[in-house]
Amino acid sequence: MRTQVAIIGAGPAGLLLSHLLAQGGVSSVVLETRSEEYVAARIRAGILEHSSVELLASVGLGSRLRAEGDEHRGIYLQWPGERHHLDFVDLAGRSVWVYGQTEVQKDLIAARRADDQEIHYEVSDVSLHDLADSPYVTYTDKDGQSQRLDAAFVAGCDGSFGPSRASIPSPKVHEKVYPYSWFGILADVAPSTDELIYAWHPDGFALHSMRSATVSRLYLQVPNGTDPQSWSDDRIWDELATRLGHGQNGWKLNPGPITDKSVLPMRSYVQTPMRHGNLFLAGDAAHIVPPTGAKGLNLAIADVALLSKALIAQVKEKNPTLADAYSDDAQRRVWRCTHFSWWMTTMLHTSGDPFDAELQLSQLRWVAGSRAGATGLAENYAGLPLGY
Ligand code: FAD
Ligand code: DHB
Repeated sequence: MRTQVAIIGAGPAGLLLSHLLAQGGVSSVVLETRSEEYVAARIRAGILEHSSVELLASVGLGSRLRAEGDEHRGIYLQWPGERHHLDFVDLAGRSVWVYGQTEVQKDLIAARRADDQEIHYEVSDVSLHDLADSPYVTYTDKDGQSQRLDAAFVAGCDGSFGPSRASIPSPKVHEKVYPYSWFGILADVAPSTDELIYAWHPDGFALHSMRSATVSRLYLQVPNGTDPQSWSDDRIWDELATRLGHGQNGWKLNPGPITDKSVLPMRSYVQTPMRHGNLFLAGDAAHIVPPTGAKGLNLAIADVALLSKALIAQVKEKNPTLADAYSDDAQRRVWRCTHFSWWMTTMLHTSGDPFDAELQLSQLRWVAGSRAGATGLAENYAGLPLGY
């Protein structure tokens, strides 16, 4: 089997890349270890930056997003006794959209199917070969048959556990592991807020997010290694009520049936370069951010926006300029988002050290109280323009 670009991974990075390449007249084949149902149902991110929405809309992936997603002007930032609204539209001229990664994934799957995209799900033993010269990928298909896929280029969009990142020889790796995790729940209850609440609390950070008018998504800072099943539903709602300020100025947190519980460890990880020969990395395969600030999915989309242009110029015009610049260009945004996610994380999560707590509260008061401070957060959260 031969194609122009072999794409490893059918997450948002891989499927969006295949979509953008197809629009530029470049063929691809996507390989994915999981089933289509599993990939479509995986509960992950929920916030799209302004430029992610514009990109998706510009390539025919915006109609359900605009109809069913929810545009937010900003967020609430709070600490005990105080809640402040930061209006990103006013501060930075850009909004964000609440639209689950599950929905982005479903839209991508539908669009690729309508275009007869070749996607092989439930493959195993994926292995990358001869990347400097004549690349090919070997794998076992879901019927147990050994297969070989030859391609001019390979795109490693296989997330943090895939084989692509290990195919870059002697990479430079930057990593930071945080001493806390997020306990996330999904609940069948109308959100108790119109826009997201990021809450600093001495017992730990809490976030009130949402997926729709009837589904809430909430997170609690918990120690690493927490077993989600060891917390009863009552304990979760009590802790959320305390940290989110139930009863303050008449605000109430409405509990409801919890449909999903999970614990997500937090780390920052950046690998450079994002290219070796004819292999290019995009999304979580090259970098991971802690979730505070909702950058992971948006960064994957921004990588792919750059990579698709580079591969189209290579394949259609034999012009290597963008491909040669890809890793450096992508890393500028990667480091901006890595810093922003680290900054949001360390400003909002308690460490147990009273000195740290005072610095965090001082920082929060400055961000919420100064137009300059609030604008910095707004610009980064709503997202810098593509090509930054
Ligand atoms: P992925 O979505 O990981 O896709 C990679 C794909 O490659 C997967 O489908 C995987 O099955 C496949 N794959 C792996 N190995 C192979 C192989 N050997 N061969 C073929 N295919 C392979 N971000 C936020 O902004 N907010 C959040 O709340 C948030 N929550 C998250 C919760 C979890 C549990 C995780 C893991 C991530 C979360 N993220 C969140 C991050 C965000 O979801 C990712 O940044 C985003 O999914 C990146 O997209 P991707 O396509 O690069 O990687
Ligand atoms: C969500 C996740 C985030 O990391 C975040 O900062 C905001 C919202 C969410 O899953 O809804």
